[in-house]
Amino acid sequence: MKEFESVYKTFLEDCHDKNLRRHLLSIEPESAGKIKIDGKIYLNFASNDYLGLKHHPKLIEETSHWALKYGAGSGASRLVTGNFPLFAGVEEKIAKLKGTEAALILASGYQANGAVLHALFDKTVLKQSPVVVSDKLNHASMHFGCSAANVRQKRYRHLDANHADEFLKSSEAGGPKFLLTETVFSMDGDIAPMKELLTIAQNENTMLIADDAHGFGVLGEGGKGLATGADITIGTFSKALGSFGAYVAASQTMIDYLTQRCGGLIYSTGLPPATLGAINAGLDLLPELGEERERVANHAKRFREEMANLTKKKGWSTGRSETQIVPLIIGDAKEALDLSAYLKEQGLWVTAIRPPTVPEGTARLRFAFTSSHSERDIDQLLTVLKKW
Ligand SMILES: Cc1ncc(COP(=O)(O)O)c(C=O)c1O
Repeated sequence: MKEFESVYKTFLEDCHDKNLRRHLLSIEPESAGKIKIDGKIYLNFASNDYLGLKHHPKLIEETSHWALKYGAGSGASRLVTGNFPLFAGVEEKIAKLKGTEAALILASGYQANGAVLHALFDKTVLKQSPVVVSDKLNHASMHFGCSAANVRQKRYRHLDANHADEFLKSSEAGGPKFLLTETVFSMDGDIAPMKELLTIAQNENTMLIADDAHGFGVLGEGGKGLATGADITIGTFSKALGSFGAYVAASQTMIDYLTQRCGGLIYSTGLPPATLGAINAGLDLLPELGEERERVANHAKRFREEMANLTKKKGWSTGRSETQIVPLIIGDAKEALDLSAYLKEQGLWVTAIRPPTVPEGTARLRFAFTSSHSERDIDQLLTVLKKW
């Protein structure tokens, strides 16, 4: 052990003292909407498998089919020998659904944001420093991409399109402009003002980049998401699509550029055939899942409505959630952990989300509703919460 390892130990102790220490648990998926931990079964309100596709027989069938056909891995970067034919078919489907000229599959949403933003903000290509204007609550992976590119973001107030516009307007002398947002914010379940952002981007000659991780599959016509019109959409197959992997949808020029410059594509092994199979099956199923999307929306709406009195009484809040993600913002990290522990005792799994994932003083429980939940599951959740 190196002597300086003690600084990491001090960091861990500090996390513990502030109720911010994280732990990895061994979690067995039990069935759609349920998990088993240490032998106990819980109703799962902490999964992004919004449409229950993780367990869908068609995804499992295509996963097995492509593994049997092409093996367990792709064996190389896609630019070397890892680009088996299913990639092009899936990319075509994505581009069609998103209404863009082209699309590119990457390894994960986190990696996509990191690698794509890093490539786009490359000062040696742009010949100037880019002006990057971002929603304050954008996902950690977008910040990661910006810092990898050594870009200092101008961070506008959450959802405040006018504030974004002010930043863009005051940057007339700068380099090329980019506006970054999530469509549905992962920890708040609220929706970016996409129409306004599109107009601003248009007027200010700005490239709008939208992370549609939590909109894709669940929201928009046929589940196509909420990023329509964005210059570049980044999304993931790991949430409503039930599997893994990510995509970028954009013009052919931008996809060709990323093929030359995106480190996450060039220096990383292509997704395994089995994963591509699951993605392909998920995309084919999307148009048929209208009932599932409606059920998800109804569960979340009912939860927000029935919790209104209790949240008011306790000084909590469900923020501006309009989607399947509903935060119960409590404030204090310890109190959030205590409530999460109480729910677990009652057989309900809901994760407490604490800083630095969310801003200081806004620790919360993040409820994610899925089509696998029944009305009885929601009854049970509400009854237990009202007894706290
Ligand atoms: C908004 C957003 N973008 C990107 C990601 C990362 O996606 P993935 O889980 O595929 O790495 C997440 C996941 O938490 C997310 O919430």
